[in-house]
Amino acid sequence: MTQPGPSLTTSLDGLTPEQLRGFFVDWPNPPTPDTFLRLLRGSYRVVLALHDGQVVGFVQAISDGVLTAYIPLLEVLPEWQGRGVGRALMTRLRDELRHLYAVDLGCDDDLVPFYERLGMRRGNLMFTRSYERQNGSLPE
Ligand SMILES: CC(C)(COP(=O)(O)OP(=O)(O)OC[C@H]1O[C@@H](n2cnc3c(N)ncnc32)[C@H](O)[C@@H]1OP(=O)(O)O)[C@@H](O)C(=O)NCCC(=O)NCCS
Repeated sequence: MTQPGPSLTTSLDGLTPEQLRGFFVDWPNPPTPDTFLRLLRGSYRVVLALHDGQVVGFVQAISDGVLTAYIPLLEVLPEWQGRGVGRALMTRLRDELRHLYAVDLGCDDDLVPFYERLGMRRGNLMFTRSYERQNGSLPE
């Protein structure tokens, strides 16, 4: 029998930092689970994939709520990758954002086909990074 997949939710009600462990793989200076919860709470929309009370995947969107949204972060825990969770998270988020004109994100070349299969088009992204701020800790 196949294992049931995780369930999706758009609610952060009752979510604790303990449910948010294991993310930001390969980030040199990752946010703590508390900071992670803070960035989810500051988002316009989030979709979480839950299994046995743990978050195993998430995607967030920030937005003006009028025309445009941006999707900064999508991540599925390594042991859950390749099972359709990322696609399910993105599909649900796109539906949550269907009232908007523009939905943008940036990604590496190898993920272009993943997003194209979700109906997105390829463009250019310009960006800056302040690496000393990567963990999102509150400024002194
Ligand atoms: C990218 C990511 C979210 C995809 O989640 P996932 O649950 O593994 O993806 P799915 O199982 O839904 O895969 C859907 C399809 O995309 C493909 N795909 C997934 N990750 C891919 C990658 N890194 N490179 C190329 N193709 C990829 C899968 O092979 C699958 O293809 P198929 O439809 O032909 O079977 C996940 O690999 C991840 O968390 N990566 C690390 C963080 C990251 O890169 N986030 C994205 C930032 S833009």
